[in-house]
Amino acid sequence: MKRIAIIDSGSGGLTVANVLFGQLPDERIIYVGDHGNCPYGNKSPEEIKDLVFGVIRYLEQFELKMLIVACNTASALMLDELKERMDVPVIGVIEPGARTAAATTRNRRIGVIATQRTVESHMYRKIIRENRAGLEVHEQACPKLVSYLENEETPEEALREVLEEYLGPLQKEQVDTLVMGCTHYPLAEQQIRRVWGGDVNLVDPARATVAKAAEVLMESGETADAPEGEHLFCTTGDVLDFEEKVKKWTPVSQPVVRYVETRA
Ligand code: SIN
Repeated sequence: MKRIAIIDSGSGGLTVANVLFGQLPDERIIYVGDHGNCPYGNKSPEEIKDLVFGVIRYLEQFELKMLIVACNTASALMLDELKERMDVPVIGVIEPGARTAAATTRNRRIGVIATQRTVESHMYRKIIRENRAGLEVHEQACPKLVSYLENEETPEEALREVLEEYLGPLQKEQVDTLVMGCTHYPLAEQQIRRVWGGDVNLVDPARATVAKAAEVLMESGETADAPEGEHLFCTTGDVLDFEEKVKKWTPVSQPVVRYVETRA
């Protein structure tokens, strides 16, 4: 059986898996969360590439039909290298999210919240402007957010405070569209909306990413027509902790979760 591989630095990619479970219910995934090395967003590009290639080496033993890089940081830094390395289609999350934002802003001012490395790559700004010239794009790094969201003990008050710090500058720029440029951030969608206060076009790139995956599977004749076997959830971190998150954040009530080593 061929699976769709979904990779992320931790649990954020579950927000993409969730959309996939809804839109492509017959597909089976193998998810690898590199929790042992999370977060990626503050590490050097070389270290991030090493870690991601370690995950890719682990995946070589599986029959895959597609790789979804459900990590904005890795998508920003190395999507082309991954495309060269893999012999199946590779889909990142930035291009689909950037396209949605460019198509849906009304006042032509877009905000992007993302990790330090994603912001430094300016990939969102570049792709948004390639899709629609003349748009204003304001990118805001949120270095603490991934760790706060992975840690279930983070107090609501602490989360609210960092969101105020990160969203404030974008509100001053009067953006009408806000891209959640890290797959962890949709886990805090309600808190983001609460802190923003007014109306905002909040873009979660997951929907457009899965739509693109569906299109590519269709074109290559790889769409599954019946469910077969279990989804596999792998982590380089704590199995019980990840199992709880899969149960809490996805509809999979009895997930198969395993610990894996991905570092050489
Ligand atoms: C991170 O590990 O810092 C975030 C992953 C992402 O950019 O989606």
